Amino acid sequence: MRHLMSPLDFTVDELEKLFTIAQDIEANPEKYSHACEGKKLATCFYEPSTRTRLSFEAAMLNLGGKVLGFSDANSSSAAKGESVSDTIRVISSFADICAMRHPKEGAPMVAASRSSIPVINAGDGGHQHPTQTLTDLLTIRSIKGRLSNFTIGLCGDLKFGRTVHSLINALVRYENINFIFISPEELTIPEYIIEMLKEKNIPYREVRKLEDSIPELDILYMTRVQKERFFNEEDYIRLKDYYILDKEKMSLAKSDMIVLHPLPRVNEISVEVDDDPRAVYFKQVQYGVYVRMALLLTLLEIEI
Ligand code: NCD
Repeated sequence: MRHLMSPLDFTVDELEKLFTIAQDIEANPEKYSHACEGKKLATCFYEPSTRTRLSFEAAMLNLGGKVLGFSDANSSSAAKGESVSDTIRVISSFADICAMRHPKEGAPMVAASRSSIPVINAGDGGHQHPTQTLTDLLTIRSIKGRLSNFTIGLCGDLKFGRTVHSLINALVRYENINFIFISPEELTIPEYIIEMLKEKNIPYREVRKLEDSIPELDILYMTRVQKERFFNEEDYIRLKDYYILDKEKMSLAKSDMIVLHPLPRVNEISVEVDDDPRAVYFKQVQYGVYVRMALLLTLLEIEI
């Protein structure tokens, strides 16, 4: 039985297989519409989410399966003091697979170690968010046609943004990727990631201004300042509008640069950018459903 805790749990070849399935799902959705009949997905969300939880639920429903779960720790037995290990043992009797989001780093991993059904990490604190990374990779691969040879700018909250950490982890396995980290001084990329890049001799630069680096980017990955991980409100207020991508900044970018964002967006991308064909963040949401469908099939070992 397999779980998904980090994007590195799949080899590059296994990811290729997953993306091939996701692309076939996009092209022939009806072929998959009964694939998970009789199967149940439990979504155990101890932290707010709309997109990720509904994306998982839509994925299972599209496959003909059923869903159950909770979307608020206060409405689950966690409020009574139950541990995730106990919760997952109980859920294992109700469902065939579980997607879990938790504010504590490592909680889905603890759950996986006690589970008799596959567990998917749907985001653990500021740590990892592997299914967002699968979504990001599928979006890049589908629109750019490749997962190698590009310069990617990651902009915003690089300190607390788990989607950024997971995406970098995954991208270092592909050829010729150049990273530009665009963040305020207080929200720079964690040292352990910088160490990993140095060790692997992967080119990167840390900069403060988006305007200066946008012309050289093939991909711009915007992120929101992660309010919930701040210790004090003042710092959040000071940093939340540090970057705002608008039409003017987009005019400095390459004509085939694409803009990704895991969403939810706050102020970091002005709505005027939404109509720019290079803005692909709403398409990205759709790829998220395809890739989660492919993931459910893979972890449930269902072949079509
Ligand atoms: C991201 C997350 O939860 O980390 N959202 C998501 O899953 N689509 C990004 C964010 O909340 O900023």
